[in-house]
Amino acid sequence: MNRNPHVAVVGATGAVGIEMIKTLEKRKFPVGKLTLLASARSVGKTLNFRGQAIIVQELTKNSFSGIDIALFSAGGGISKEFAPLAAKAGCVVVDNSSAFRMDDSVPLVIPEINAGDIKNHHGIIANPNCTTAITLMALYPLHQAFNAKRIFASSYQAVSGTGAKAIDELQRQVNQVVMGKPVTKEVYPHQIAFNVLPHVDSFLPSGYTKEEMKMENEGRKIMHHPTFRASVTCVRVPVYRAHSVAVSAEFEKPVTVESARAVLLKAPGLDVVDNPEKKEYPLPLYVAEHYNCQVGRLRQDCALDNGLCFWVAGDQLLKGAALNAVQIAEELMK
Ligand SMILES: NC(=O)c1ccc[n+]([C@@H]2O[C@H](COP(=O)([O-])OP(=O)(O)OC[C@H]3O[C@@H](n4cnc5c(N)ncnc54)[C@H](OP(=O)(O)O)[C@@H]3O)[C@@H](O)[C@H]2O)c1
Repeated sequence: MNRNPHVAVVGATGAVGIEMIKTLEKRKFPVGKLTLLASARSVGKTLNFRGQAIIVQELTKNSFSGIDIALFSAGGGISKEFAPLAAKAGCVVVDNSSAFRMDDSVPLVIPEINAGDIKNHHGIIANPNCTTAITLMALYPLHQAFNAKRIFASSYQAVSGTGAKAIDELQRQVNQVVMGKPVTKEVYPHQIAFNVLPHVDSFLPSGYTKEEMKMENEGRKIMHHPTFRASVTCVRVPVYRAHSVAVSAEFEKPVTVESARAVLLKAPGLDVVDNPEKKEYPLPLYVAEHYNCQVGRLRQDCALDNGLCFWVAGDQLLKGAALNAVQIAEELMK
């Protein structure tokens, strides 16, 4: 890999793309040149990187010649069409969409967990689902110590997880409610302001949503744990940024709050915020814009054998997307 790679961000104007540009700069990734790509709608817009205004170009089939690393976050359809072309042009793609995550020939990576899988790539590396990534940041170290059997979980997912238009929708609806005006809907099927929606992604014949099944399917692949089971309810909440997940986990080995806390205190990329007496626990408002996820509300699960309950929160635009992608790019440079 070129020591100062030519990096492209595909979907540069989106909620994740903007964070990718910021994260490359903040982490001093050794970018030689940065190319910003989006749809024809954004051509000519400028975005700042290291104090320079970079002009956004239209994504085309010829966008990838001379590019070393492409960070994709423009949706699954764009990834399916353009990521193989980019890989063919010799560039390594880190893809944020779900398009290739379960493809056996594509590593699905959280660097703190399975960085070793990156070396098996054939030009495309997948970034996991954001809720799965945040949950595994706490679950995986516990699994290493106590062998996770299964989890039951509910997510509290921020609107920025749906993209830039959903951030505008929450803002608009809050204003409409406050002003006593009729609420208009464009992104979600129901009003999201002052409401919660038990519906993230599309429904499967089983009654679960696709988002809910990502925890089990992607969790198995990332943790190299083919029998891991997860029953999840994903809920969209009127929070701008950062997802939270309430987890009840059952382990093969006995687990106590003290032994779990000792494991979590040493886990990379994770902070323990767990002092209920002082009303200290992870909150999406405070974890937003932080690289580390936070875990708290540790307690023995009263309904499971060898069970532990915890609450984990993390900035899904960062650990669930942009940060994880840049961390993968950093691994490629090693
Ligand atoms: N948001 C999250 O927390 C999150 C977390 C993990 C993964 N992801 C995944 O990341 C991807 C992007 O999500 P997002 O939240 O950033 O969405 P977003 O805010 O809606 O941004 C979408 C981006 O894709 C670009 N795009 C759309 N159609 C295009 C086309 N035909 N050609 C080229 N570029 C096109 C848009 O460009 P224009 O501005 O020109 O339309 C924009 O830059 C999705 O696959 C999503 O599942 C998102």
